[in-house]
Amino acid sequence: MVELTPVPFGVLATRLFRELAQKDAAFDLPIARFFQGTTTDLSTTVHDQCASTPFGPAAGPHTQLAQNIVLSWLAGGRVIELKTVQIKDDLVIPRPCIDMQTVGFNVEWSQELTLEQSLEEYVKASMLIDMLKAAGWAPAYGDTVFDMSVGYDLAGIRSARMRAFMAGLIDATAIVARLRDQIPSPLAHLRDTPFATRISDTVTLSTFHGCPPQEIEAIAAFLLQEMGLHVVVKLNPTLLGRAQVTEILHERLGYRDLNVPATAFDKDATWEQVTGFVGQLGVLAQSFGRGFGVKFSNTLLVHNHKNFFPASEKEMYLSGRPLHVLAMLLVRRFRQIFGDRFPVSFSGGIDAGNFADAVALGLKPISVCSDLLQSGAYSGYARGARYLVNLVKRMNAVGASDIDQFVIKAYGHAQAALDSLALPAERARACRAALTQGEDLHAAAGDAFATWVSAARLLNSESYVERMLADPRYTAAQNATPPKKMGTRLTLFNCLTCDKCIPVCPNDANFVLAIPKGQLAMERLVPNGARWRSETAGVISLDKPWQIGVFADACNECGNCDVFCPEDGAPYLSKPLFFGSVGAWADSPERDGFAIEMLGKSLLMHGRVNGRIVSVEKNDARLRYRGEGFDLHLDPADPAGTAEGLSDGPVDLTPLRIMELIRIAVTAPDAVNFISAAVAEHAANQGELVETKPWHT
Ligand SMILES: Cc1cc2nc3c(=O)[nH]c(=O)nc-3n(C[C@H](O)[C@H](O)[C@H](O)COP(=O)(O)O)c2cc1C
Ligand code: SF4
Ligand code: SF4
Repeated sequence: MVELTPVPFGVLATRLFRELAQKDAAFDLPIARFFQGTTTDLSTTVHDQCASTPFGPAAGPHTQLAQNIVLSWLAGGRVIELKTVQIKDDLVIPRPCIDMQTVGFNVEWSQELTLEQSLEEYVKASMLIDMLKAAGWAPAYGDTVFDMSVGYDLAGIRSARMRAFMAGLIDATAIVARLRDQIPSPLAHLRDTPFATRISDTVTLSTFHGCPPQEIEAIAAFLLQEMGLHVVVKLNPTLLGRAQVTEILHERLGYRDLNVPATAFDKDATWEQVTGFVGQLGVLAQSFGRGFGVKFSNTLLVHNHKNFFPASEKEMYLSGRPLHVLAMLLVRRFRQIFGDRFPVSFSGGIDAGNFADAVALGLKPISVCSDLLQSGAYSGYARGARYLVNLVKRMNAVGASDIDQFVIKAYGHAQAALDSLALPAERARACRAALTQGEDLHAAAGDAFATWVSAARLLNSESYVERMLADPRYTAAQNATPPKKMGTRLTLFNCLTCDKCIPVCPNDANFVLAIPKGQLAMERLVPNGARWRSETAGVISLDKPWQIGVFADACNECGNCDVFCPEDGAPYLSKPLFFGSVGAWADSPERDGFAIEMLGKSLLMHGRVNGRIVSVEKNDARLRYRGEGFDLHLDPADPAGTAEGLSDGPVDLTPLRIMELIRIAVTAPDAVNFISAAVAEHAANQGELVETKPWHT
């Protein structure tokens, strides 16, 4: 089974700050793609906390590992919906599990890490963000809300380990203290950073994956009352009911191949249940001084009619553009029942083209998953900053200096919303004057401002939903083309070097291996009496300006890079695979790959090449090259003339040549990847430099 292995905190910190200093990037996201703030106020409140933008990554692949959360933050995400955790933390997830060929499908569940690992990843992420802030990144745009996500039933959520998880994020003092000590010496000046220890006090309850609808109220009450958290209940698109879901998907949008299993509607909450518990929970939350809201929506369960996922998967979860339509219909319906009494957060097909509209509806936070997995002029996390840039443009176009004023002005409903309030004549006149003259609406409306915003939210919801229903961008016809494949096949080296696989990986597992162009001799040593004879069996030609490597610990074989790679064979299955530890490498005997062990000043490199295990280490001026049936010392500049040692037959030197080449590239002082960061961190801890130069001269 493929397992994610968290990157140690010291290695993450080393890589982050080295990459910022040396490459103007962080975890492969160029600084030019960061969201670095604007003079327009994009801040909002989530329950009682301030968030500098209403955008954030949705619970999913972008919020599981610490580096992903940091990337989401750098892209402008300020409300981070953490990957859902549940008591069953030993799930076996089918692979691949993410299919973004057209719209979005996945067969993921909750977290792949243990509860304890998840807690630590979230604290690591919060600390790295605090370190970035302390180093001057996003000075006026730093307010960030970490929102836990939990599932799926009352017994699991009340279990001791789940309570410990939540308590750990509510008060992370002990973990912060432990991790603070792991900040490497080159970053010692950041050890005094005033790290947040109350990482989160809000939670989103996922009602997916068999969450019993009759338990939702009791779970939310437990989270409010016993855990003392603000609570959002994330609802599912089945809430619309079979007739409307089918009509929208099949008739209006043309996704006739998408079918929802009948049982999905029977098992999920109904409007009667939702309207019942929402009112009760609102009152309960108020009595505890906590916030309560709902979120639309989670993914939609559909039959698996494709052959992307393993055949065992009879069902899959729909996200992306068609879900946008269903989720927005839920927003409208909810507001028709409850008005603007409860905060509504949103996820469902948000992209650069509709993010500002969701803001105009007063939805918050607005979170994204599928679009951040897509490739294009902006790929992966880089798409996040576009949402905010477009929002600022829309705000400027209507003369709105903050989000609430944008809500009032966005769709031209300011006057109608005002009229619906029946304000005293003088107040209404002041508001109208402020509108015409472009003055501050807060000042003009005074106490009535919040109700004006509320009225506009409701009117905007109606207008937007009508417009959206007529918008062809959500239809099957406009979302039917998968990324192009060229018909060529990936090999260990050489490919189109388009680099598409790097930004679309949510975990930043793919990276550039700076191997220069050249020829690699494939050679073997043949015993020749007491000496050796060299036989050349051809050359490997490296004819691309760089190569691609994969960091196994961060790769869960989700499949997303394969979807966007123009070649066949999947980067994560074809390209040189580096493990973060010898243990992880040894635990994956089915995969060719490499691991570097640091021994004082030198490196011992383990490899599995075509299934054969070998190792290479420097021993004085020579290399020790070992494998099954041989143990040689040799100078790679003249193997036949210098080899000494034992062998029970000819020795293939190709693995040695490959390993030497990639070792130099992956550990080079200016290389940016998790291996080079681990080497640098080791060197800093040891107070000595690790050998990263070529072994032969
Ligand atoms: C690969 C993947 C994994 C997801 N994992 C979770 C999860 O763990 N918990 C959850 O509540 N939602 C999960 N979701 C749903 C998203 O949080 C989001 O609600 C949904 O995908 C709709 O947003 P989108 O259209 O922007 O993707 C996942 C979605 C995807 C695509
Ligand atoms: S390298 Fe590819 S398969 Fe692996 S996690 Fe990243 S996107 Fe998924
Ligand atoms: S592996 Fe595929 S996506 Fe990655 S650089 Fe090569 S051709 Fe491009």
